[in-house]
Amino acid sequence: MNTIIAVAERDITEEQPSQALEQAAGILKQGGLVAFPTETVYGLGGDALRSEASEKIYAAKGRPSDNPLIVHIAKEEDLQRLAREIPEKAYQLMDVFWPGPMTMIFYKQPVVPDSTTGGLDTVAVRMPAHNVAYELIRRSGILIAAPSANLSGRPSPTSADHVREDLDGRIDMILDGGDCRYGIESTIVDMTGEIPVILRPGYITKEMLEQVIGTVEVDPGISGLLPEMKPKAPGMKYTHYAPKGIMYIVEGDSRKSVIRCINRLVRERQAAGCRVGVLATRYNAMAYEADEVLVVGDRSDELMISSRLYRTLREFDQRGVDYIYSESFAGSGLGRAIMNRLLKAAGYRVIQV
Ligand code: TXA
Ligand code: MG
Repeated sequence: MNTIIAVAERDITEEQPSQALEQAAGILKQGGLVAFPTETVYGLGGDALRSEASEKIYAAKGRPSDNPLIVHIAKEEDLQRLAREIPEKAYQLMDVFWPGPMTMIFYKQPVVPDSTTGGLDTVAVRMPAHNVAYELIRRSGILIAAPSANLSGRPSPTSADHVREDLDGRIDMILDGGDCRYGIESTIVDMTGEIPVILRPGYITKEMLEQVIGTVEVDPGISGLLPEMKPKAPGMKYTHYAPKGIMYIVEGDSRKSVIRCINRLVRERQAAGCRVGVLATRYNAMAYEADEVLVVGDRSDELMISSRLYRTLREFDQRGVDYIYSESFAGSGLGRAIMNRLLKAAGYRVIQV
């Protein structure tokens, strides 16, 4: 398959025709697949209400088909077409956080095919805050099922180049809208119970949600540290976001002891003939003695770290390292989401110093 790659302007308006967007909308209407930018990561889109389109998405990603897709909408009225028993708290959250990096889970309407929801009776819905995504939904008139546009098991793509690396030749089109602002996937909140539950942490934190609707719980399965607890979002159980090198997170109270420990581990691996990388924050980077030291961002700027995390993991692949040692991040606020993704990338290998 020849994959069309086209630049979609971010500042498109309703009046301005965009050839790339019209072409992409046409592909979606015919049941084809288009990768497009959102404010979190790039999505691989297809018609959410056609099971053949969802099946094509699973095939292109090499993704297990029991892992449900998120449906992207452009206006609030679209939600009723997909979901039933929408609680009042959901409307309160929508008012504040949509469009934006928050996905909500509801009981599904019968029109949503089982292949889109991985056979579940619930559906995940999100309204992305990105002009290109908005215009694509609006112009095609299609509710777009879209997982992250990576091959299954690879870090999510935060640029059109990442999508091309993984999916060139496997999908119909890639819309290039530049780099994604947040860089990690949306917060997922299950709205089907009495108390909403966070199934995947993201930029919208527990604290932010609680300011609007009161108590919110966090699915204990997502830490991955309790093997007997299965995460409620099926996708959270798969090894994900994994770079090719084997990764460890080194955690400790003192900056100095973390640096000392990482340098010792690096020397040991190098002595065994391996190429070793370190995922560092800016002011520590100079202290490491590894083959590849990559700076993910400033420790004081969590948005910078989240937006660069997957790019940095992909960069380690390109540098061909066998092992990666990473600093650790705070377990609250956006740091909780960053740490969740890092733990998954590291297969939960944590070294305490
Ligand atoms: O930011 C995002 O959410 C991106 C962009 C493209 O919108 N999308 C994304 O999709 O991250 P994906 O497929 O990579 O992750 C979707 C997650 C999976 O962990 C899946 O199991 C969970 O959402 N999910 C989807 N539907 C669900 C449902 N009905 N119940 C529980 N979890 C669900
Ligand atoms: Mg994904």
